[in-house]
Amino acid sequence: MAIVYLIPLLFLLHPLGPFLTVSAVGINYGTLGNNLPSPKTVAQLLQSTIVDKVKIYDTNPQILQAFSNSGIDIIVAVENNHVANISSTKSAAEDWFSARIAPFIPATSIVGIAVGNEYLATGDDSMDPNALIQAMQNLHEVLLSRGLDRKIKISTPHSMAVLATSFPPSASTFATTLMPTMTSILTFLADTGSPFMVNAYPYFAYRDNPTTVSLEYALLGNSSGVHDPKGYVYTNMLDAQIDAIRSAIASLGFGGRSIHIMVSESGWPSKGEPGETAASPDNAKTYNTRLITKAQSNKGTPMKPNDKIDIFLFALFNENKKEGGASERNFGLFNGDGSKVYDVDLSCEFCSGSKMEFGFGPGSKVVQRGPSVWCVAKPHADEKLVQGVLDFCCGPGGVDCREVYENGACFGPNKVHAHASYAMNAYYQMHGRNYWNCDFKGSGLVTFSDPSYGSCKYSQQ
Ligand SMILES: *[C@@H]1O[C@H](CO)[C@@H](O)[C@H](O)[C@H]1NC(C)=O
Ligand SMILES: *[C@@H]1O[C@H](CO)[C@@H](O)[C@H](O)[C@H]1NC(C)=O
Repeated sequence: MAIVYLIPLLFLLHPLGPFLTVSAVGINYGTLGNNLPSPKTVAQLLQSTIVDKVKIYDTNPQILQAFSNSGIDIIVAVENNHVANISSTKSAAEDWFSARIAPFIPATSIVGIAVGNEYLATGDDSMDPNALIQAMQNLHEVLLSRGLDRKIKISTPHSMAVLATSFPPSASTFATTLMPTMTSILTFLADTGSPFMVNAYPYFAYRDNPTTVSLEYALLGNSSGVHDPKGYVYTNMLDAQIDAIRSAIASLGFGGRSIHIMVSESGWPSKGEPGETAASPDNAKTYNTRLITKAQSNKGTPMKPNDKIDIFLFALFNENKKEGGASERNFGLFNGDGSKVYDVDLSCEFCSGSKMEFGFGPGSKVVQRGPSVWCVAKPHADEKLVQGVLDFCCGPGGVDCREVYENGACFGPNKVHAHASYAMNAYYQMHGRNYWNCDFKGSGLVTFSDPSYGSCKYSQQ
């Protein structure tokens, strides 16, 4: 019987392309607050959102434990004051890795190690640039010896201050004093296939130059476009910042080698010091909503339109113990008590069919791990892979897929991730709901919120 159903299904699904490719969003999870929800709560809640990558600022064992088997990838960090230690010997790096990372893998999907944060721009003379590179190399050696170098990438997030000039984007270069260090870092990144990480904040550029920078341009809005002499037109400052980094990389001779750029932080504060008039909930909502759309769009920047940029929003929480001006403590989407600072939609169409209200606070729908559990396609999972999983489930996998055919209750939305979610869940339920029954080569995600919607009912054991 299954074969009979398989044929019309393939017919239905293949000619519909191009399907919307769903990419997901990363978020920075800082913990400099004394009022934050437990890592376990955070992990459970993020599972039913579009967020599928989380970056932290240390190797907090409670967080690494909480995100085990969550379907969410984690980037951990070596704190700035620990870089020198790891750079000292290969065995220091080995010790760090075996104490802090090894106990949590593979259950926790650790995909990156950020070595230091804005290390080269701290202005602290004790931060030796050579130690940064040596620490990165030592950690890479550890990964190589354990066969983990393809899964875990090593990089270091830079601030925009590493540039001598950022405008026009096509003429940007790194600060002269940093060029030798940058050359070594870029060689390392190119050799290991790791991304160049940059923390890019149009907010600060606007705050410091409100008369020369338009607010719409900083807010990722549709300004009339800023023209680069090489012909590129920038409708938003974040793209210009990314391309400034791209040009600086090319100017050191790495133009021909593919080094992917990752925005390791970007965001907008909802509150600031009295002079920071642009720090408002409205502007923060506008910026972060557009940033999320951008992260999901698969689009690159004017210089490289097809080179998708991975983006990590800053930040999940307002952190009441963070030092610096008031804006530093107000970049979060959520307050420490879990309430929303303003409304930003993180709901995930395929993780939860009924656009779930996401939140931590009182009155928000908290998803508790309970007896009910479902399996869906990861929102960002590769489409070809997901199509293959769908074909498998509805064919050899023995799932009755009639509901996802035309006229079936789950035909709409007519998207491969949605149809696959239905089939993957049915397969998972049929086989006893073991977590490995929802693996599907890494494309499945266990969720605790019912993905059913309208008359489309996801089965449950
Ligand atoms: C590095 O850190 C480890 C563990 O904290 C410590 O035992 C070791 O002495 C440190 N090494 C150096 C060179 O500071
Ligand atoms: C920006 O403006 C152009 C031209 O007016 C328009 O085609 C485009 O849809 C606008 N984009 C956004 C995001 O508003």
